[in-house]
Order: sequence, then structure tokens, then C-alpha cells
Amino acid sequence: MSEFQNVRFEKIGGVGVITVDNPPVNALGPGVREGVIEALRLGNEDPEVFAFVLMGQGKNFIAGADIRQFGKARPVSTHVSAKALESSQKPVVAAINGFALGGGLEHALACHYRVGSPSARVGLPEVKLGILPAGGGTQRLSRLIGPELALEIILSSRHIAAKEALDLGILDEIVDAKDLKSAAIEFAQKISALRPMPRTSEKMTCLDAARANPQMLSLLDNALSQKTRRLRVHDCVIECVKASLFMDFEEGLNLERTHMAELENSADSKALRYVFFAEREVKKVPHLPPDYEPSRVASVAIVGAGTMGSGIAVCFADRGVPVTVLEASPENLERGLAKIAGLYAARVKSGKLTQSAMDEALKLIQGTLNYTDLAQCDAVIEAVFERIDLKKEVFTQLDAVMKPGALLLTNSSAIDINTMAQCTKRPHDVAGAHFFAPANVMKLCEIVKGDQTSVEVIARAMKMGGDIGKVTVLSGTCDGFAANRSRAALVSEAMLLLEEGASPYHIDQVMREFGYPMGPFAVSDLSGLDVSYDTRKRRAAANPNFRKLHVPDHLVELGRHGQKTKLGWYRYEDGSRVPQIDEGLMPIITALNRELGVEQKVFSDDEILKRLLFASVNEACKILQEGKAYRASDIDVMWIYGFGFPRHRGGLMFWADTVGVQELHRQITQWHAHYGERWRPAELLNALLLSGETLRELRSTAF
Ligand code: 3HC
Repeated sequence: MSEFQNVRFEKIGGVGVITVDNPPVNALGPGVREGVIEALRLGNEDPEVFAFVLMGQGKNFIAGADIRQFGKARPVSTHVSAKALESSQKPVVAAINGFALGGGLEHALACHYRVGSPSARVGLPEVKLGILPAGGGTQRLSRLIGPELALEIILSSRHIAAKEALDLGILDEIVDAKDLKSAAIEFAQKISALRPMPRTSEKMTCLDAARANPQMLSLLDNALSQKTRRLRVHDCVIECVKASLFMDFEEGLNLERTHMAELENSADSKALRYVFFAEREVKKVPHLPPDYEPSRVASVAIVGAGTMGSGIAVCFADRGVPVTVLEASPENLERGLAKIAGLYAARVKSGKLTQSAMDEALKLIQGTLNYTDLAQCDAVIEAVFERIDLKKEVFTQLDAVMKPGALLLTNSSAIDINTMAQCTKRPHDVAGAHFFAPANVMKLCEIVKGDQTSVEVIARAMKMGGDIGKVTVLSGTCDGFAANRSRAALVSEAMLLLEEGASPYHIDQVMREFGYPMGPFAVSDLSGLDVSYDTRKRRAAANPNFRKLHVPDHLVELGRHGQKTKLGWYRYEDGSRVPQIDEGLMPIITALNRELGVEQKVFSDDEILKRLLFASVNEACKILQEGKAYRASDIDVMWIYGFGFPRHRGGLMFWADTVGVQELHRQITQWHAHYGERWRPAELLNALLLSGETLRELRSTAF
């Protein structure tokens, strides 16, 4: 046995077994590619070795290049070690356990054979990082399974399970999962003498596909609609896969590398790589004892089967978790259960679910009118109307019946968690689980910490969210909690811009061009102008300095409540938004502005963007300084998954760093002088100006 850095080489029964051992996921970090090349050299020179097996230690094969190394010099690139595998004189069998992603799959594609365990999952997810598979991935996958399929796999970044990989021809065989190593060695012994050795780079599948379908080039060109094909990386991938049709292999590799050199240093890729790590950081609960393993929520109760409660019930039933739904009256319960069945029926109708899957899911959902039926559930989520008296009553009842250690969660979107916690004798078990509407669709779930919530309860609630497929983020208790509170500043600013003469259509267009799927006014129409009107009324009553938003208030009073009244900021016909501007709207706003006597001006796109986003960045800094969020990068995750912030911009705080703290501070100070209190710079921003730190690395010391 020989030892390399992160790569082991041993000889077993005439087979040289190369094992990548680079925890946690066997990424191609420093030394790994070199180790593979060195092991191949040793084995090729050794007369006792007839074939190789390439495998990964532990749960995964190889999860791809080390993402932290992008933008840094790499002595050996993936295409070089992949080439060493393919040009080996003795055949190499890739033995895939767990994930073979990116450069990992590229190494496997360069091997002469690929076997996998039933749990193997392969994919080329580079596009999600704003780069392309530049270790030969675009050229080899295209040659192996044809350009159309290769393009779909690369553009979607999806993970492919073993069975599909076998059907597509990416895997040659699925072998015994219990002892993949022995099975792969046996396979290698079986094929060791076969010649010629199959080399993916020499396959003709691409040319065959092109000959069979002369329209192939334009087909590939149209692989993405103009709407989804918005990043440079999409064009680069399409160009490389097209090149596999008419360029020879080496030329194709060169093209990959040229594009990679550009993409690796692009703003999009830097942002997307940042998001990759932010998504992993967000799961880490601060101050948790290192050996604490949160237990799984195996049964859940939901109090209130309205729109939110029924959506939440579906989230759990979808993942096989039994749900008990409680309502106050038989009529409400019947209505709630019908709503849940309706959500499933809609999915069956659209072909997203089978009838039998719907039946199975519905079997997991029970209704009740008695609190005692909830007692044995591991967690309860209160989802009744947003009224403090009602919530207090529910929590008093829950405290009386729930078993010790049950999580007592509220889906409140704004009410202080402490209010509910104080109604119980176990405030450490009470936290917020703030789902976003529609709960069964939206990925984000905010776990909200009250003053006395224990860190273990937070960890269990975070795990519960993750187990039902949500991106779960941590927030402190404050009005609106971290996500909505930080976004409210953007929405207010958008409304205030209208008083100064901006049009909602212009603002929406600026935000769409920035990368949002919808502008804030289109979103406001969807959620209903009346909803935020009521929230403003509540806030105004609590705060004498509350800045009234004249324009949306006026529209609500005119009955323009958004999509539900067929008229809001836009007009709606047959349930769809009329894309043209509503000629009736601007005269209403102009007349109101005349009454208000606000000076009118013309706004540039840049000013609109900055007014909206800077307002939220400043608020996010206040949230962090108050300890109502832990990491700045958590806020970025909230914005991407909760509000459609464009992923390739990295999130609110990452984007703000691209503008720079100095410019941010200068502009906010200027607007503070002009507009007053709402633009007061956060103390944290003042501190950053002095320290020179970035926003995205901020961690709250008050959390
Ligand atoms: N590089 C560096 N670190 C990585 C990594 C990678 N490729 N993949 C995972 N990690 C780190 C994570 O940051 C995390 O670190 P932490 O514990 O300090 O937070 C740790 O490994 C475990 O990762 P996960 O929490 O994501 O573990 P899971 O078990 O949930 O998921 C996975 C495993 C599906 C492999 C997932 O980690 C993943 O998708 N990884 C990235 C895969 C990828 O994008 N590969 C392509 C890279 S680009 C490339 O190969 C270019 C080539 O074409 C030239």
C-alpha cells in the first residue's frame, strides 16, 4: 500500500484500488488530482496490476472540485487528472457510492467503466455555481449519452439517481451496495483483458445524433427560453455542447477551458459560490453544544386549518409525517380538511401527483376538535388568526395538554414570540415557525427565537423544517421578524417613491431587470393591498411616528385591492395580469401628489434600485445590531428563498458589498439629511465604515 495526500493506493487481486479520502465529501482539494495521477503512474508501471478501481472513502465518490479553490491558482486542473484516467494503459473502473458531482462525475466519465451502488447519485451542478463542467464534462457527457440529454442535465444541475444513470448509459452496472469495493474489484478483474478499452472521448454518439437530426444545432440553441437563459454561463454551456457535435475532442476541451477562465472570475459565479456556502451556514445553530443531536419530529399537530394551517399540514404529510389538525368547530374542521384535500387534488389534476400518492398522504391527516388528541405529538404549530388574544388562549390550552418536551411553535408572522411563551409554564419550548404563503409551495421557513427559547428547541425546530424540505433560517423576535422586517423597508421606499413622481411600472421594470421574477407592485397585487393596509393601521396605532403611505392607502380606500378585485397597481382580466400599464392609475397618483404638495422629480433606474435596496440593507444592519438575526449571510438566504432575490446577485448583503460600504454609507447619510429619520444610518454601518469589514461576513454579537 502507498500513501499520497488524500489519496490511497493499494493492490488487491491484481487490481490497483485508488481511494480518494478527503473528508467531508471527497472534493478535489489540493493534492487529490495529483494523488490520482501518481497512483495511475505507479499502477501502470507495476506488472502485478492489470486494472484499476477509482473510489471514494466514506459516503461519497467525489463531490467535485473544491469550491473554495476557485479564483485561486490550481497546479493541476480537473481535465488533466481526467485525461490521465482516460489515457491509462490499464482499464479504470469508477466505483460510485453516494455523490459523484461536477469534477467527480467528470473523473468517472473519463474512466473506462462506471459501476455504482443503488444509492449512487451523479450530476454536473456547475451551472448552479456560475461555471461550467470544464474537466471535459460538456464533451464527454455529450459523447456518452447524446447532446440533448447532456445539455438538459448540465443546465438543470440536477442529481440523477443510479437507476436513471444506468438507463441513460452513464453507469454500466449497478452493483452490490454492501460491498461496493469488492464488487468493483470483481468487475475490474472481469474486464481487465478486454481491448480496445472504451474511451468516452472517442465515442461518436454526438455525431450520430447530429446525423439523425439535422436540426440538432437549433434544437440545442433553443434549449432554454429567453426568460430562463439570462446568465452568461447558460450561453457558454450551450456553445460547448454544440461544439461536441462538430469540433474534435481536444478543441472542445479548449473551448471549455476558455469559457471557464472567464466564468470563474465573473461576478455571477462569485455570488453563486457565496450562496452555496451561505446555504450551508444557515443550518448551523449558534451556541449549540457540539455533541447535541436534535431528535426528529415524528408527529405534528396543527391548530387552525385556514390557508396557512392547511398548507403546513400538506408539507408534513408530503414527507410521511402524521398530522393532527385541530379546529374550533365541526364546520371549520370540515372546511379545513376539504381545503387540504383540494390542495392535493389540484396537484393530481396537474399531473404532479398520482391519485394513490394523494390517498396515502390524506391517510396521514386526522382532524379533531379536542386539544387532548394533540397531547402525544412531538410538535404543535399554532396557525390561527393573527390576533393576540386568540393566540394566548391557544397556548394556554397547549401548555395544559402537550407532553413534556413537545415543541410549541407559532406560525405568527409578526407577534412577539414572548407573548405566547408567557402563557405557558415552559417558555423554553416555545418558538416561532414562520412559514411563507403559500406554505406548501414556498421554500422558506423562519424559526423565531423568543427570549427564553432553549437552543436545543431551536435546533429541533430547524431540523424539523429541514426534514420537510424547507430552507430553515433563524430569526429573533421583533415586529415582522428578520425576513419581512428587512423587506418592509424596500416596500415602504417603493411606495414613497410614488409620492415623488415615480411610476410603479418603472419601479417594477427596474427590479425585474435586476433579476427579480416580479417587481414589488406586482407582488403587492398578488398578496392584496388590503393586507398591508391593515398591518400599517396596526403599526400606526402602536407608533406615533409611523410614516403614512398615502398612495397605497388611497388605492385601498378606492377599492383597488389587487388581483382579487381585478384592479390594484395593474389590471386583471380572466385571472391574469394585463401587461400594459393601467391608464387609470397614474392620474390618481398624480392628483394625490398634488394634494400632498410633494415636489415631483424624474428618477433614474440606478436611483430607484438604490433607494429600494439601500433602505433594506440599512434595516438589515439594524436587525443584526439588535441581535434579531445571527449572520448577514442568513439574511441573504432569506431574501433568495423568501422574496425571489436573484440568486446570481448573492443576496441583499452580498450585493451591498459589491456597491461598497463607503458608497452605501455616503448615500444613506445624504438621504438621512434630506428625508429624515427613516434613513438614519444603522450604528453597525457606521462601525463598518471605520473597521473596513464587509457586510456579508457580519455576525451579530447580540444574538
Ligand atoms: N467544495 C468544497 N466544500 C464542499 C464541497 C465542494 N465541492 N461540497 C461540499 N462541501 C462542504 C460543505 O461546504 C460542507 O462544509 P461545512 O460542513 O463546513 O459546512 C460540507 O462539505 C458538507 O456539505 P453538505 O452540508 O452540503 O453535505 P450534504 O451531505 O448535505 O450534501 C453534497 C453533499 C450533495 C455533495 C453537497 O455538498 C454538494 O452539492 N456539494 C457541491 C457539489 C458541486 O457543486 N460540485 C461541483 C463543484 S465545481 C466542479 O467540480 C468544477 C469542475 O467541473 C471543474
